[in-house]
Amino acid sequence: MCGIVGYIGNEEAAPVLIKGLKRLEYRGYDSAGIAVLGKPGLLIRKSKGALQNLEAKIAGELAGDILDGSVGIGHTRWATHGEPSDINSHPHTDVSGKIAVVHNGIIENHAKLKAWLTEHGANFRSETDTEVIAHLLNFYYKGDILQAVIEALKRLTGSYALGIICENDPDRIIAVRKESPLVVGAGAGENLIASDVPALLEYTRDVYYLEDREIAVLYRDRIAFYNDEGDEHQRESSHIDWDAGAAEKGGYEHFMIKEIHEQPKALRDTLRARIKIDNNSKTINLEEIGFDASWAKAERVVIAACGTAYHAGVIGKYAFEKFTRVHTEAAIASEYRYSNPIFNPKDIFLIISQSGETADTLAAMRMAKKGGARIIAITNAVGSTLAREADLVMYTWAGPEIAVASTKAFTTQLMCVYLIALQLGRLRNTISDAELAAHIAALESLPEQAERILSEKENIQRFASLQFNKSKVFYMGRLFDYAVSMESALKLKEISYTHSEAFAAGELKHGPIALVDDTTLVTALCTQSALFDKMDSNIKEVKARFAATAVITYDDVDYFNNTADQVFRIPRTPDSLSPILAIIPCQLYAYYCSVLRGLDPDKPRNLAKSVTVE
Ligand code: AGP
Repeated sequence: MCGIVGYIGNEEAAPVLIKGLKRLEYRGYDSAGIAVLGKPGLLIRKSKGALQNLEAKIAGELAGDILDGSVGIGHTRWATHGEPSDINSHPHTDVSGKIAVVHNGIIENHAKLKAWLTEHGANFRSETDTEVIAHLLNFYYKGDILQAVIEALKRLTGSYALGIICENDPDRIIAVRKESPLVVGAGAGENLIASDVPALLEYTRDVYYLEDREIAVLYRDRIAFYNDEGDEHQRESSHIDWDAGAAEKGGYEHFMIKEIHEQPKALRDTLRARIKIDNNSKTINLEEIGFDASWAKAERVVIAACGTAYHAGVIGKYAFEKFTRVHTEAAIASEYRYSNPIFNPKDIFLIISQSGETADTLAAMRMAKKGGARIIAITNAVGSTLAREADLVMYTWAGPEIAVASTKAFTTQLMCVYLIALQLGRLRNTISDAELAAHIAALESLPEQAERILSEKENIQRFASLQFNKSKVFYMGRLFDYAVSMESALKLKEISYTHSEAFAAGELKHGPIALVDDTTLVTALCTQSALFDKMDSNIKEVKARFAATAVITYDDVDYFNNTADQVFRIPRTPDSLSPILAIIPCQLYAYYCSVLRGLDPDKPRNLAKSVTVE
């Protein structure tokens, strides 16, 4: 949702904070602000709109003002309470103007606290839930800001990652989190906090992922950790292996197109460590993550996730049922959590989340855990809440995904789903050794096949330049192709603001075809070989209603040459694995439409990379 940063060291804090916020802009970008402890005391600068507005404000400063301080906190906002405005931007301060707070999350009891604090003399200026924290800290401050934080936490319900500084206590930053991510970076003579690792990488690769309700106190030369009662404890740091360049644009115009191009490598990385050679034949090795024979007793697989990750789950449903013959359901986490679901200790509960912090997904996981199910998490975020709470974690090795629209996280999630499904099939003897070997070989070919699709991206770009103004774009397909259609439609609507929908192709004539006319583009995903003739009929039906049509199919299939206006080809792979390849032209199409419409594909309006609130 929002992004927070903090710095304590010997450099001027303001530029460090701005740099960090730039790396976190994907988390929110409707306003930004910083607070620095300078010579005159606590100084705050905030600005509505993009971060560059704040930068411009600071660039206008006279020397010795905001730039003259080496302790500070910063925030980039995705508004939840109160419109984007200077006044609602963080940091928020108490009545004395000496305590400043940045917050990511939602304080659920803020209305009650606001009433109580107002009775006790607080004067609220913003519409945010966050401001109650600043006033609460003031209420409990008796000369020790850490103690005030400990007391204030007892009153807060909801989710939060907080960075706090205090003018009377100028040589430390207090950081704490509950259900919102927060990472502490340990540098040499300087320490930092951030909502996400890329904001720290220029300064350190040694990080601490804070636990729920754990408090970190950052000094220039050390970091102390406490529980919410104030008892100190020791922590081991984690080392980040990926380099800072992975979070830069690297010559591409946008992060999204860079990340689309990174898919071959990300797929290779995600696959490589999970394949081993046994007696001259290749097998899947998931023992390192604890996926052993005990999982074979599963009577049902339930997959829960949101957005793009949910679409990976729908593909997972088809893959699990194909390879394991275990009944599998894919659920939208935000629906699932309120659906009074039935659990069985023999369920495998598969949770998919790029960020590992999505509120609805975590809630679904916690319910399933309570219900006795065994949890497998697929995530890209090492140390995320999901990773910490699941019974078993399989990481996607996608590297940092900065663009809000998920691309490489999705295809690597699929890679993990296939590996688990195939391995479960092997453990249950529902696929033969020959089938397994053929699928492993096919998985190994995917990175190079993805490269081939990317090398022909100009075909998609050309097509987008003809179609980007279409007012309605429909995707249709059957089985695995229907799931890819859903993801394609989401991608296009997210970043090009085109009205796009996905339909199970067989459903078309049950209603949606009423929408089809000459302003419609219909893209048919055609990789399920047994259903080509059905798809052919569906394409003819929409063509007869004057829609423009495109088909995505294999490079050795001529079936649709005379049916669709345009055919895009992907390399041959087993039909069940085609989603990893078939989605790539659709990602590219969405990207080019966004750019052609003059939009910023990396930062679509109203969206945030990590949805840590309901
Ligand atoms: C993807 O393009 C979207 N931005 C969004 O649907 C995302 O997949 C969803 O919010 C789930 O996020 P997660 O994978 O971090 O849980």
